[in-house]
Amino acid sequence: MIPRFKPFLGSREFLAIFTPARSSAILSFEKAFAQKMKQKYALSFPYGRTGMMMLLRALGLKDKEVICPAYTCVVVPHAITYSKNIPVFVDSSKDDYNMDYDLIEQAISEETGAIIATSIFGNPVNLDRLNEVKEKFPHVHIIQDCAHSFGAEWKGMRVNIGGVAAVYGLNISKIMTSVFGGMITTDSEDLYLSLKKLRDSELEKVGITKSIMRRSYLLAIYIAFNPFIYSFVNFLERHGFLKRFVKYFDETKIDMPGDYLDQMTNFEAEIGLIQTAKYDQIITKRQQLGKIYDRYLGVASISGKTYSHYPVLVNDRANVLARALGEGIQLGTIIDYSCEKMAVYKRCKFFTKNGISNVGFFRENVINIPMVLHDDVNAGVLKFISSLER
Ligand SMILES: Cc1ncc(COP(=O)(O)O)c(C=O)c1O
Repeated sequence: MIPRFKPFLGSREFLAIFTPARSSAILSFEKAFAQKMKQKYALSFPYGRTGMMMLLRALGLKDKEVICPAYTCVVVPHAITYSKNIPVFVDSSKDDYNMDYDLIEQAISEETGAIIATSIFGNPVNLDRLNEVKEKFPHVHIIQDCAHSFGAEWKGMRVNIGGVAAVYGLNISKIMTSVFGGMITTDSEDLYLSLKKLRDSELEKVGITKSIMRRSYLLAIYIAFNPFIYSFVNFLERHGFLKRFVKYFDETKIDMPGDYLDQMTNFEAEIGLIQTAKYDQIITKRQQLGKIYDRYLGVASISGKTYSHYPVLVNDRANVLARALGEGIQLGTIIDYSCEKMAVYKRCKFFTKNGISNVGFFRENVINIPMVLHDDVNAGVLKFISSLER
């Protein structure tokens, strides 16, 4: 079976599972990551959402409105809420699934503290439009959510530098990984120092048990993605046996994982370091495959895109998913919800054009075609995607 995604893991990460981690690994990872993202500072967190929550607090925001896309990972409004601020949702554009810039301006008020600008699926946000917003509303901080984009570029400019700071998620499904983990980068020394102070005073040091658990998890990932085993894993997932491991939110709750205030482990930092060194290679491979898909689907390639996912909007999703499965292809349905519809966020403001929500359409119709190493994609996948009715 061709999986819907596959982490770019090699023998060095595998060996690291059985090797003691250095106590200096976190600092080395932060330094290497900052350099790779071409920023002055990077700070590690156990999850991207923990970093985002602390970043909002380090910016001095409390009881403020924070604008974010409705079409984003639910952990984003959760992080806003945990920072004691209020999420405000904005509809996204049909062009690139990113927030509609006209609506961002409409959503800004005296109460607005920040905008979380997300380059969803690796599609770079329009930095020209965001700069206009910044000039018009200097009291509003722009935070780049780069969990899907990392070093994506808008007209040659990296999106991660288009705000006061950038947030990254580093779990196993991301462009590069540190097993779990998150990172914040910034060029502001003041912000770096206040965020570091907050992080160091609130995050707990972790012991050997956590490190063993993380190592076991990574080992399980190697096993699960073995081509001979993956079909079985997919069967278990479809029949709900892996819910405990893959379910990352509960519709009825605003919550965080139990360990969201634990420090990143040294082991995860070692993995992150290896992956940072491979970052350029990973992006090149993703772009190669993304461009092949663009060609097969007759879509114009956008330069600077990092293809964290390859979304396609289809008419009859259930049928398409079933047909793909029959052909040994696993498709994703990310993102198959939108935050403004969730019971816990129903009362939040949601801005649309003429009352029509694009994200409503996305969540019902999106599929993700396999984003794996391009060598793993066979003619069957390409034939399948050319046959998609959109
Ligand atoms: C768009 C977006 N932002 C932020 C995050 C936060 O990452 P984490 O899962 O590390 O908290 C994610 C994670 O999936 C995401 O998809």
